[in-house]
Amino acid sequence: MSLVPKFMRPAPPRPTERDGAAPTPAQRAKANAAEGGAGLVGYLDERTGASPFLRGFLFRKVPKGTNWFYTLGSATMFAFVSQAVTGVFLAMYYEPDPTRAYTSAAHITNDVFLGELVRGMHRWGATVMIILIFLHMGRTFVFGAYKYPRELNWVIGVVLVVLTLMMGLTGYLLPFDQRSFWATVVGVNINASGPIMGPYLADFMRGGAEFGQSTLSRFYAMHMMLIPGLIGALIGAHLYLVSKLGTSAPPWLKAEKKSLKREEI
Ligand code: HEM
Repeated sequence: MSLVPKFMRPAPPRPTERDGAAPTPAQRAKANAAEGGAGLVGYLDERTGASPFLRGFLFRKVPKGTNWFYTLGSATMFAFVSQAVTGVFLAMYYEPDPTRAYTSAAHITNDVFLGELVRGMHRWGATVMIILIFLHMGRTFVFGAYKYPRELNWVIGVVLVVLTLMMGLTGYLLPFDQRSFWATVVGVNINASGPIMGPYLADFMRGGAEFGQSTLSRFYAMHMMLIPGLIGALIGAHLYLVSKLGTSAPPWLKAEKKSLKREEI
């Protein structure tokens, strides 16, 4: 039995008049249904034309020697999706107000059904995502995958690292306890000490001269809308380039190929 889902298999050739058997209307309808896929999947496919893209993406060839290190990018993506899903549930209860932020976060942990689990997943998931993104970056660096023609994907990746770290910074303030408050004060002050742009950046992050309501609102908006939106869009561009360029072969195989060529000369 083929493992390829039915709607992705090439359509069976239609009988033609040259074969001596012109299809009856019922046969033609059956052939059309087989080509388009008769169920919901076929309905969607006929209207979106998604199957050539999915076929190309899911059944693309990967180079010899592809190994577990190549899964780190997908693992990072999984961590991001998990953060997005748990974040949506947290946002249903969290209140970005200096007088209520701490109690609303405590309410999630202590009273809300599965609140402690979801908050814990989001808290630890943030650390996991940062570890995974750096491991993935290390893999692409060590395997030389940043070289031509994948430089642009590397640059997109660097922006993704910066944005992921910004997620960490903006999220850390949200529980609004002593630790998160003072850690953010230190973080913003470090930014303020930067040349030329530093003080402006710090002013922007605080939402004024002092830490307060506007800082918390600003961090919350950046944490749950601006930065995840940018990360989502950039992951889309990143994956488009991965599917267009394919993944690179491990360096030891490239070296083998080169030495083979040299021997041929
Ligand atoms: C949210 C963060 C990221 C996600 C979701 C992500 C996802 C992926 C996926 C799924 C792949 C294909 C499989 C693989 O090679 O692992 C990939 C490839 C790649 N990524 Fe990322 N990535 C992220 C961040 C980064 C970063 C930080 C860098 C480097 C600065 C980077 C550079 C690359 C490069 C150069 C490739 C091509 C690898 C090759 O051709 O062998 N990515 N990424």
